Amino acid sequence: MTHLRLISPLVAITHLTILIASTLITPAASSSQPHNCFQPSKLPHANHIFNAVHSAMRQWGSSVNHNGMSIFHATIPEHVQLYHGDSRAEPVRGMQWMAFEPEHAELFVKRENMGSFAGKIARDGNATMEEVEFFQEEVRYGNSSERLKERMGGWLHDYRTTRALRVLYLDGMSAANSKKGTVDLQDIVLLNQESENSIISDMDRAARMCKLFQTRAHGNIDGVIRMEGGFEAILCHSEDVLEPIRIKQSKPPAGDPPGLNANADSAFEYYRAVASRYFGVGGGRVIVDFESMVSGYAYLAEGPDHSKMRRIRDILPYAGTNLREAAMKLLLQEPQEMEHHDWQGVADMIVSRYATPLGLLAGLTDPLSFRKGLEAVTEPFYSLQNSQVDVAVAVERCAMQDIPTRYDDVLAANAIIAVSAAICQNLVHASAEDNDTVSMEIIQALVAYLNWPSWRFCKGCQPEEICWTPIWPLGGLHDKLNPRCIGEAPNPLEMSYWR
Ligand SMILES: *[C@@H]1O[C@H](CO)[C@@H](O)[C@H](O)[C@H]1NC(C)=O
Ligand SMILES: *[C@@H]1O[C@H](CO)[C@@H](O)[C@H](O)[C@H]1NC(C)=O
Ligand SMILES: *[C@@H]1O[C@H](CO)[C@@H](O)[C@H](O)[C@H]1NC(C)=O
Repeated sequence: MTHLRLISPLVAITHLTILIASTLITPAASSSQPHNCFQPSKLPHANHIFNAVHSAMRQWGSSVNHNGMSIFHATIPEHVQLYHGDSRAEPVRGMQWMAFEPEHAELFVKRENMGSFAGKIARDGNATMEEVEFFQEEVRYGNSSERLKERMGGWLHDYRTTRALRVLYLDGMSAANSKKGTVDLQDIVLLNQESENSIISDMDRAARMCKLFQTRAHGNIDGVIRMEGGFEAILCHSEDVLEPIRIKQSKPPAGDPPGLNANADSAFEYYRAVASRYFGVGGGRVIVDFESMVSGYAYLAEGPDHSKMRRIRDILPYAGTNLREAAMKLLLQEPQEMEHHDWQGVADMIVSRYATPLGLLAGLTDPLSFRKGLEAVTEPFYSLQNSQVDVAVAVERCAMQDIPTRYDDVLAANAIIAVSAAICQNLVHASAEDNDTVSMEIIQALVAYLNWPSWRFCKGCQPEEICWTPIWPLGGLHDKLNPRCIGEAPNPLEMSYWR
C-alpha cells in the first residue's frame, strides 16, 4: 500500500473557503475492494451525511435536522420491549404502531373514540383510509376541559419481540405528519406519490409502506422505525412478531390523563421521557446497519449551501429516479452476513474529540487565547511527526486516527473520512496562517460547515429542566432558532413553527 499524494493544504485554500476532502488528489479507487489507506472520495454534502449517521436513532439531532433524507436497514433484536396504547385490552393484530417508551404509548391510551396509537386501524389489520391526525387531535383537545371528561381509561400494552425484526429506519422526524419535508422520503420516494401537495394520512402511508414491503421486499421487511416525540415502530404483522408481556388498564387519575393534552405536570413527564432519549434510544434496542445507508444527500448536486435544511421534494427534479432506484434496491437487499462497522461509533469519536475545542475556538475573538487553544488542538498531530515540514502526512494521520484500518467503500465511511479530513486540514491551515483574523475565519467556517447538533444543545439547564427545540406538533420559530431550557411542558397551543 502506498501513501497517496496530497495537495498541501496550505496552498489549496483561499480564506473563508473551507477545504473539504474533495480537493485532495484521489486515484480512481476500485469500489469493491476494501482499502487500508487514506482515500477520501469526492463527496459533496459529506457534512450532512456525517450528521445523519451521527444523529441516527437520537432524538436531539433528529429533531434539530428534522427532515430525514436517509434510509437504513436496522434490526430490533429479540426480547426488546415495545409499548402500545389502546382503548382495548385484546392483544394487537395486523399493522400497528409501537412505541419504544411507555410514556409515548400512554398518549394513545386514552379516549374511546380516538382509540389506539394506531387509531382506527381495524383490529384484524385492515387499514382504513380515514384521515386521522392523532397528535393534532390530541393537541386540539388539550384546550378543552369538557373534552377531557370524554376520556376513558384505556389500556397500556407491553410486548416483547419474539424474534429479531428486520426494519427500515427512516431518519429525521419521519413520524411528524408535517408539510416541512419530514415525510417527503416516505411519500415521494417510497410511495411515489406524485402530487406534492396532497398530504397522505398516516394510516394510508403506513398501509402503503407495508404493501410495498410485501410486494417489493417479499415480506422480508417487518416494518419501519420513525421518530416524532419518541421513536416508534410500525409493524406490518404485529401478531407474528410480538408477544404480550402485560396489558394493564390505565385509569386517568382524577381527570388527569397523561399526554400532551393533560395537565401540565403529566405532559411534562412525557417530554422528560422524550428528552431522556436525546442522545440515543439506548439499550441496544435498535441496531442500525450504517453500511446500508441510502441518502438523498448523495444525489444532491454539489453546492455552496451548508446550512439550509434540505428536503427531498426540492431535489427530486434531478435526483428522484436514482434515489428511488437506490431505495428500492435496499428493499430487496438480503441481510448481510459480513461484519459491518459501527460508523456512528466512529462519528462519535470525532465529535467527542473536536466538538468542545472547535466550539470554543469559533467563539474566541482574543488572538492570544485563540492561538493558545488552536495550538492545543493541533499539537498532538504535529508531535506525531519527525519533522514539522511533512504537513500532508500529519493531516493524513490526524484524519485517519479514528477510522478502522480496513473498511468498505460505503457512503457512511466516505462521509466520515471526508469530514475528518476537512477538520484536520482546516486546523492545520488555520495554525499555519499568520493573520489571526484569517485564521479565526477558517475555524468559524469549519464550524459552520460541520453544524453539529450538539452545538445547538442548551447550556446550563437545571436538573429539573429539559432542553427544548420544536418537536412536532409543538414549538415556535423562536424555539427553533434558540433552543432553551424548559421546566414545564411546552405550550400546547404554540405550533407556529410547523405551520
Ligand atoms: C378485512 O378485509 C377482509 C378482506 O377485504 C374482509 O373480508 C374483512 O371483513 C375485513 N375485516 C374487517 C374487520 O373489516
Ligand atoms: C383555549 O382556551 C382559552 C380559554 O378558555 C380560549 O380563550 C382560547 O380561545 C382557546 N384556544 C383554542 C385554540 O381553542
Ligand atoms: C488580516 O486579514 C484581514 C482580512 O483579510 C485584513 O483586513 C488584515 O489587514 C490582515 N492583517 C494583516 C496584519 O495583514
